[in-house]
Amino acid sequence: MLSKSQARWFFIGGTVFFSAIFIFLTIDTLREIPARQNSDQMTASVVRGKMIWDESNCMGCHTILGEGAYYAPELTKVVDRRGAAWIAIFLKDPQAMFPGKRRMVQYDFDEGQIQDVIAFLDWIGKIDTNGFPPEPDLAPATLVSLRAEQAAVAPPQYFSTVCIACHSVADNGGTVGPALDGVGNRMTSAELDRWLSDPQAVKPGTAMPNLGLAEPTRAELVAWLAGLK
Ligand code: HEC
Ligand code: HEC
Repeated sequence: MLSKSQARWFFIGGTVFFSAIFIFLTIDTLREIPARQNSDQMTASVVRGKMIWDESNCMGCHTILGEGAYYAPELTKVVDRRGAAWIAIFLKDPQAMFPGKRRMVQYDFDEGQIQDVIAFLDWIGKIDTNGFPPEPDLAPATLVSLRAEQAAVAPPQYFSTVCIACHSVADNGGTVGPALDGVGNRMTSAELDRWLSDPQAVKPGTAMPNLGLAEPTRAELVAWLAGLK
C-alpha cells in the first residue's frame, strides 16, 4: 500500500516520465517529416496535377496514401506499378486498354494535363511511406517473371508495361489483341516495324493504337518480337 506522499511522487514521476517520452516522439516526428516527404521536388507540374486531381474528384473512387474512396485501385505507387507510358494511354482513353470492360471515367484531358496528373502521381509515389501500401499477396501477372523460364531474352520494359495490357505471350497478358506467341514466324522484322510505326496505315480501322513509339523503343520491340518463334 502506498502512503499518501509516495502516491503523490508516483503520480508526478509517472507524469513527467511519460510526458518526456511523448515530447521526444513529437520532436522525432517533426524531425523525420522533412526527410520523408519530397517537397523539394514539387514542381509546377506536380501542383497543376494536384489541382486536376481535386477538380476531377479522382478521390471519389480512388485512394492515395490510403485516403479516399475504396471503389477503384489505390494509386500511391501506380507509376511504379504501371509506368508513365501506360498511364498516359489509359488516361486518354481507359476503354482503349480494356474495351467494354472498364469503369474508369473518360476525362477529356489534353496531353499537358495528362503529364501533370502523372507528375503528381509520380511525386506522391516518391513519398517515403514506410512501406505503405503493402505489396499484394498475389504478385501481378508480369511477363518478366514468366519469360525467365520461357525465353532467353526478357521482354523490353515497354512491352511488359504497355503492350501487355492488350497482348499475351505464353498465356500471360491481355486478350484485346492476338496472342503474340510465334509472331516472329508470322511477320518479318520489316513488317513488324511498319506495323508498330503506324497500324492504321497497314490496316485501316484496326483497334491497335498508334502508340507513337520513339525509334529506339520500336527497334527494341521489333528485335524482341522477331525472336518469338
Ligand atoms: C467513377 C470512379 C472513378 C473516378 C472518378 C476515377 N477513376 Fe481511375 N479508375 C477507376 C476504376 C474502376 C479503375 C480500375 C480500372 C477500370 O476498371 O477501368 C481505375 C483505374 C485507374 C488507374 C489505373 C490503376 C491501375 O493500377 O491499373 C489510374 C492511373 C487512374 N484510375 C487514375 C485516375 C485519375 C487520375 C482520376 C481523376 C482524374 C481517376 N482515376 C478518377 C474509377 C475511377
Ligand atoms: C489497346 C490495345 C493494344 C495495345 C496497347 C497494343 N496492341 Fe497490338 N494489337 C491490338 C489489336 C486489337 C491487334 C489486332 C489488329 C488487327 O488485326 O486489326 C493488334 C495486333 C498486333 C500485332 C499483329 C499480330 C498478329 O499476329 O497479326 C502485333 C505484332 C502487335 N499488335 C504488337 C504490339 C506491340 C509490340 C504493342 C506495344 C508497343 C502493342 N501491340 C500494343 C491491340 C493492341
